[in-house]
Amino acid sequence: MPNPSEQLKLVIDSARIAARVRTLAQEIEAWRQGEPLLTICVLKGAFIFFADLVRQLSHPVSMGFLRASSYGKQDRSSGQVRLQMDLDLDVRDKRVLLVEDIVDTGLSLKVLREALESRNPAALAVCALVDKSERREYAVNVEFPGFHIRKGFLVGYGLDYAECYRELPDICELHFS
Ligand code: IMP
Ligand code: MG
Repeated sequence: MPNPSEQLKLVIDSARIAARVRTLAQEIEAWRQGEPLLTICVLKGAFIFFADLVRQLSHPVSMGFLRASSYGKQDRSSGQVRLQMDLDLDVRDKRVLLVEDIVDTGLSLKVLREALESRNPAALAVCALVDKSERREYAVNVEFPGFHIRKGFLVGYGLDYAECYRELPDICELHFS
């Protein structure tokens, strides 16, 4: 149950998200140049974004899922990234698009990028719904950033706080009173 001391402020509504997803898909199509694409969803946060994005891409697209975790119940990274569930597909020699929810300090993405690069894909690019720059500690490439948002703790459209708010259709900022 959401806590009554938690308040939500709208940051990006669902119509703006949908429009951006369509443009991102066009940029990704231009990059893949008609080649088969393996898309990878980083669970859990990216699942709604991923579902919307892949439906804007053209055939052939395959899909893999992995789960990484760096957060406990707090709103800060624990500083360690665990791969809780690995891919069931081989990335070797494939054109791969990794789809993330938020890049914050950059640690999760750094670890995931390195793990995937070591498996020798033909090409690897990252698409992240939100590129949040204020707490960036690790320089990592995000080839297809959805929205640049400087700061704030965001929920909705797949993003959670302690497993709440993922179902919201908009991206909102969570405030604590
Ligand atoms: P990083 O390793 O510090 O870049 O953290 C990235 C991960 O932390 C993201 O993939 C999210 O799962 C989570 N995260 C970071 N900022 C937020 C936020 O504002 N809302 C929800 N989750 C976040
Ligand atoms: Mg994440």
